[in-house]
Amino acid sequence: MTFTRRTFIASAIALGLASSSAFAAKPLVIGFSQVGAESEWRTANTTSIKDAAKKEGVTLKFADAQQRQENQVKAIRSFIAQRVDVIAFSPVVESGWDTVLREAKRANIPVILTDRDVNVSDKSLYVTLIGSDFVEEGRRAGRWLADYAAKSPKKVLNIVELQGTVGSAPAIDRKAGFEEVIKGNPKLKVIRTQTADFTRAKGKEVMEAFLKAQGKDINVLFAHNDDMAIGAIQAIEEAGLKPGKDIIIVSIDGVKGAFEAMIAGKLNVSVECSPLLGPQLMQAARDVVAGKPVPKRIVTEERVFPAEVAAKELPNRKY
Ligand code: AHR
Repeated sequence: MTFTRRTFIASAIALGLASSSAFAAKPLVIGFSQVGAESEWRTANTTSIKDAAKKEGVTLKFADAQQRQENQVKAIRSFIAQRVDVIAFSPVVESGWDTVLREAKRANIPVILTDRDVNVSDKSLYVTLIGSDFVEEGRRAGRWLADYAAKSPKKVLNIVELQGTVGSAPAIDRKAGFEEVIKGNPKLKVIRTQTADFTRAKGKEVMEAFLKAQGKDINVLFAHNDDMAIGAIQAIEEAGLKPGKDIIIVSIDGVKGAFEAMIAGKLNVSVECSPLLGPQLMQAARDVVAGKPVPKRIVTEERVFPAEVAAKELPNRKY
């Protein structure tokens, strides 16, 4: 029989030892595989997780996957070999996790997903997913744009879309939510859509290509994150156009960079996606290890920030 920290804790609780000093002295060990450092959002997410672990006295084994699934698989296998108490990770893409998650299950190590979902046939391969409702974020972006379009004198607004990482949950879900809302709206038409991998550099590069191909036909940019929108803003300015005016820009995350762009009149709205998941992750990990029930889905609360409220809200922003 494999003796894990979980079985130890369960026995300790049963024997009434949970408050003994020997038990309290052993810190919880979490192995965390992060997507990378592709955006302002991701940096804030990493800080939130590291700070929460420090505050809670949790030993965090942190691995940066540099946006590659194979690096995450390697990290998870190494966490299994090190016999950490809990494995947590934010999956780069949705599919391809069954094998490694089965290995974690066989080793009796609970897995917590943060931020992004996985597409697995057996949902018992992970305990919980803590993070945003990405479909709803896409819908929120679509609703803001539909309201804008209703007031616009233009007959049709041509939209270009910068998608996040191909195969990632936020790219798939935000696109779906946005399309669901604008579907059948005669004033809104997506004329180009392409991935820019959630980065500023690619956001700029792909927007340059859109501008070259479509020029002044572009009325709206929908970017799946703020970083791609900020990169695109540069491309729009370099093309001699005014971002936020000649091209309306809708994006997602609500990072400080987006608030600054809104205050400068270059971005019209940012739909919030909170990266501050560290405290919830520590709590869920402790609960799982203590054998307490944890909800299968923990959804983050979020808002929508149009440019008009940006100056007032910026001082309150934590990321
Ligand atoms: O998974 C969350 C997304 O990933 C954020 O919107 C984006 O900025 C990040 O890279």
